[in-house]
Amino acid sequence: MSKIQSMRALALPVVLAAAGALSAGCGDGSDSGGGAAALDRSKVVAILGTETFADQPAPDPRMVELGRKLYHEQRLSKQGNLSCASCHDLSKYGQDGEPTSPGSTGERGDRNSPTSINAFRQLAQFWDGRAATVEDQATGPVMNPIEHGLATEAELVGILEGDDAYVAAFKECFAGESTPITLANFGKAVGAFERTLKTHSRFDDYLDGDDDALTAAEKAGLQTFLDVGCVQCHMGRTVGGTMYRKLGERVPFETADKGRGAHTGNAAEDYMFKVPMLLNVAETAPYFHDGSVATLEEAVRLMGKHQLDVELSDAQIASIVTFLKALTGELPPN
Ligand code: HEC
Ligand code: HEC
Repeated sequence: MSKIQSMRALALPVVLAAAGALSAGCGDGSDSGGGAAALDRSKVVAILGTETFADQPAPDPRMVELGRKLYHEQRLSKQGNLSCASCHDLSKYGQDGEPTSPGSTGERGDRNSPTSINAFRQLAQFWDGRAATVEDQATGPVMNPIEHGLATEAELVGILEGDDAYVAAFKECFAGESTPITLANFGKAVGAFERTLKTHSRFDDYLDGDDDALTAAEKAGLQTFLDVGCVQCHMGRTVGGTMYRKLGERVPFETADKGRGAHTGNAAEDYMFKVPMLLNVAETAPYFHDGSVATLEEAVRLMGKHQLDVELSDAQIASIVTFLKALTGELPPN
C-alpha cells in the first residue's frame, strides 16, 4: 500500500462516523428545506469540511508545465486531431457536454467523460475506480483505440522524441533517467498538471468560516441535501468521490453497465460506481455514468428515487439544485 492509499483507508471511517452523527434523526425527507436558520455550520463542517485525501504530493512546477503542454497535445492521437482537452475541455469545467465522447476516429465509448477538474482529490479515477491516481489514469487514454488511438508506447515515444522541446523538457523533469520519455513519465507529467486543476467555491468560503458566503436559499438547499440523506454518499469537501456505491441501491436502476463489478469480477460490486463529486456539477451536464440524464433537476429526482426511495417534491428538488449551484467555483488557469 502506498502512503496515499493507506491514508485513504484511514480517512474514510472518520468521515463516515461524522455522517452518521449528522443524519441521525433527520432522514425522513419530509422537510422541504425551510430550516436554514437551524443550519449549524460546525456540524456541516464536520461532515462536509474534510478534504478526505489531503495528503497529495505538491507537483513540481516544471513537471506541471510539461504536463500542461501534453494535456493539449493533439499530435498524440491517431489522426492528429484530439487531446485530453477534447473530452476534458478546461474552459467547459473539464468535460465536453456530450453524453459520450467521440475519440480520434469518431467512435464513442459507453461512458460519460467525467471532469478532470478536482479529479485528483478523489479516492480513485474512472467511474469504476480502476486507476488509483491521476498519474496512472493518464497512461490509459493514449493507447485506447476509441480515445487517442495510438498503437503502442513506441509510437508515443517516437512522436515526442521528434520534438526537441519535448526531449529537453522530459530530460529536465526526469533527470538521471536513461530513457526519460516513457508512457509512465508522460502520465507523471500530465498528472502533475492535473493536480493544479482545483476550484474553490462560495461553499468552501462557508466551510472556512464565512457564514454569509451562502444565501438563505442556498443554506435551505444545503439543509434539504443533509435532511433527505444525499450526504450519506456525497460527502467531504468534494461532496463525493470518497466511496463506491450501487446505482439503484434502494430501487433498481436500468443499466447494462455493471460498473465496478465488471472491473473486479466480484458480483457483490455489480452496478457499483464511484459516487461522483458534485463540485461544479451545475456546469457538467449531462449526468450519470452513461450521460443519459440531461438536467440537474432530473439527476436529483432520480437520486431521491433510486438511492433513497424518496419521492422528492419539485420544491425539494429546486432547493437542492440551488445549493448545488453554489458548488461552482472559478475555473483554474489552463
Ligand atoms: C475521447 C474522449 C477522451 C479523451 C481523449 C480522454 N478522456 Fe479522460 N475520460 C474519458 C471518459 C469517457 C472517461 C470515463 C471512462 C470510465 O470511467 O470508464 C474518462 C476519465 C478520465 C478521468 C477520471 C475522472 C474521474 O472522476 O474518474 C480523468 C482524470 C481523465 N479522464 C483524464 C484524461 C487525460 C489526462 C487524458 C489525456 C491523456 C484523457 N482523459 C483523454 C474520455 C476521454
Ligand atoms: C446511496 C448513495 C447515494 C445517495 C444517497 C445519493 N447519491 Fe447521488 N450518486 C451516487 C452514485 C453511485 C452516482 C453515480 C451514478 C451513475 O454512475 O450513473 C451518483 C450520481 C449523482 C449525480 C450525477 C453526477 C454526475 O456528475 O453525473 C448527482 C447530481 C447526484 N448524484 C446528486 C445526489 C443528490 C442531490 C442526492 C440526494 C437526493 C444523492 N445524489 C444521493 C450515489 C448516491
